[in-house]
Amino acid sequence: MSRSFKTVDLFAGPGGLAEGFSSLRNAEGKRIFDIALSVEKEPSAFATLRLRAFTRQFTALPDCYYQYLAGEITRQTLADRYPEEWKAAEDETAMLELGTEDAQQALDPCLDRIRKEADGDTIVIGGPPCQAYSLVGRARNRGIKNYDPATDHRHFLYREYIRILGRLQPIAFVMENVKGMLSSRVKGESIFERVLNDLRAAGGEPDSYTVNGGAKVGHSAA
Ligand SMILES: C[S@@+](CC[C@H](N)C(=O)[O-])C[C@H]1O[C@@H](n2cnc3c(N)ncnc32)[C@H](O)[C@@H]1O
Repeated sequence: MSRSFKTVDLFAGPGGLAEGFSSLRNAEGKRIFDIALSVEKEPSAFATLRLRAFTRQFTALPDCYYQYLAGEITRQTLADRYPEEWKAAEDETAMLELGTEDAQQALDPCLDRIRKEADGDTIVIGGPPCQAYSLVGRARNRGIKNYDPATDHRHFLYREYIRILGRLQPIAFVMENVKGMLSSRVKGESIFERVLNDLRAAGGEPDSYTVNGGAKVGHSAA
């Protein structure tokens, strides 16, 4: 039997990335990436995220799903008609602000459970929000009076992603991001290099590593 991977989607938005991952099936028709948990803070994106988690519970969508989309029934009616499927969607989605103490307390037991149930076969997908790094976001930030990138917590949300990698110990992760991340700097230091260094440190790499055929490159944990 082929392997399947319990997948955790962080900063999930409405769930586009998870939608792609979960659509992949093996020869037996089983999902290769089983979305175990998606985390998003923004209510309208979260509403879509949960609805999509609900639809994943079905092989063929029920008529009332389309009635809901057409505005003929409410979301509550949909949930009441399919309570088990709705409960599964609730269990797979969390509306939390990553990087906060409350989110950490709510998430850590879930991550531990997922890791145990998957026997280590887990994957992390998603990426820290891009408004602080993206070219458009940076142009906007320049228009904000007294904007200081060093105090913009969005630059450092990637650390929560890395903390979760450490907790879950996935076999692989995909950190989605934007072009501007390569050129983004805080206090003259490249954010991209900082992210790479923090990732290497979290992965337990020694103090220096080799690239491109042997040149030694030093790095330190931030
Ligand atoms: C680029 S979108 C994600 C897109 C998503 N991967 C997809 O494929 O649909 C980034 C999302 O991160 C969310 N976000 C930003 N800061 C967050 C935080 N601290 N905790 C949770 N979600 C956050 C935003 O609300 C936004 O929906």
